[in-house]
Amino acid sequence: MMDSYKIVGGARLAGSIDIRGSKNTALAVMSGVLLAHGVTTLRNVPDLSDTRAKAKLLRQFGATVDWEGDILTIDCSTLRADSADEATVRSIRTSFYMLGPLLARTGHVELPSPGGCKIGARPVDFHLKGLEKLGATISLDGGVYHARADRLKGAEIYLDFPSAGATQHLMTTAALAEGITVIDNAAMEPEVTSLGYFLNALGARVEGAGTSKITIQGVPRLNGAEFFIPADRMQAGTYLLGAAITQGDITVQGVLPEHQTALLKKLSEAGATVTEGHDWVRVQVTDRLSAIKVMTMPHPGFPTDMQQPMSAVLAVADGTSLVEETIYENRIGHIQELNRMGAHIRVEGRTAVIAGVKRLQGTSVEASDLRAGAALVLAGLAADGVTVVNRIDHIARGYQNFCENLASLGASISRVPAKSGAEETI
Ligand code: EPU
Repeated sequence: MMDSYKIVGGARLAGSIDIRGSKNTALAVMSGVLLAHGVTTLRNVPDLSDTRAKAKLLRQFGATVDWEGDILTIDCSTLRADSADEATVRSIRTSFYMLGPLLARTGHVELPSPGGCKIGARPVDFHLKGLEKLGATISLDGGVYHARADRLKGAEIYLDFPSAGATQHLMTTAALAEGITVIDNAAMEPEVTSLGYFLNALGARVEGAGTSKITIQGVPRLNGAEFFIPADRMQAGTYLLGAAITQGDITVQGVLPEHQTALLKKLSEAGATVTEGHDWVRVQVTDRLSAIKVMTMPHPGFPTDMQQPMSAVLAVADGTSLVEETIYENRIGHIQELNRMGAHIRVEGRTAVIAGVKRLQGTSVEASDLRAGAALVLAGLAADGVTVVNRIDHIARGYQNFCENLASLGASISRVPAKSGAEETI
């Protein structure tokens, strides 16, 4: 049994919240750090189960990792690339993104195949094809990847789809390859841009990160650096959706509004008032929102990670919304649970047809993955009565102090420890 959240719905959320570092940037940087001889200091690192798992993997690969508050100090001077345990590797998808940088440093890697949220097949074929172009020989034997490369060499790589993970993995690996690598149809997610800044801080020569064509001039050696992890646009977006679903008024601080453009445009289309400054965004809602159409797209389109929380908001909007998921084939774990709370959602192909209802009713629901969990918490905030969200270990992957932050905005939410059945009211 895992802990649960108990939410008494109906409170209007209002106030301001500081957003900590981005999970997905931190995870990418914590692969890139493997390239560096010497000590790297990362600031504003989010304390999440995924980043904890990644730190554990770094230690298993021989790095020295010191974690104090939100500062991580990592020394990758000596590495062993065949020593990670399968359970930790399988707990996160980005364990696989360590393969390339480990190979660049050690020439030989053994790595169990990865895991992550169950939202689709999530193959790694683009990664494998790209790494092979860079000169790696990779085989999968008994669930373990065996990779070798005497010397990685720059290559021209075209991605069939602008995969965030493949772009990050290949640009990181290419940083230590001999010669020039060009990645075409690269992902343009802000986390890719941030990774480019980080690699360059280590001494790499990456150009174009954040555009669809990235050029990497390989260098023979990289050193440690200091780096600040920028704010998490998905945590920020989730709180803004909390304002939307409770007809509240929330300001997120420490963010880059240009990272939220698609979400903010869709919220204003639905009737929210959005204002922004250079590092903050405020969403105010006074009336019931109106139905809209949403289609997930690679950045700068509407982010798939906000699809499930946005669907919870649209479940109580006025009219019928259409939400099309184009990135993952199975990111629909929230729908059945929202329907148990009284939502009217049916799935047609890859589109959720959401007939807005006036009110949801609290009941006991289960998070199937990280963003489904966030969607159910949002739904609980707006539902009549008590909602219990189970399997909140999924939520701990990506939301730091979720319960405390929502409570500080006026939510009635508490964490119910699994064993005692007792409540820890915030
Ligand atoms: N894909 C392939 N082959 C590959 C790689 C990807 O077919 O080799 C497909 C995937 O199956 C998916 C699509 O390409 O259908 C996009 O996947 P992408 O590689 O962009 O996703 P990712 O790198 O695995 C990251 C985030 C996800 C986020 C996506 C999309 C991390 C750790 N994860 O995943 O975040 O949804 O990009 O932006 O950076 C989350 O935080 O909840 C989360 C799942």
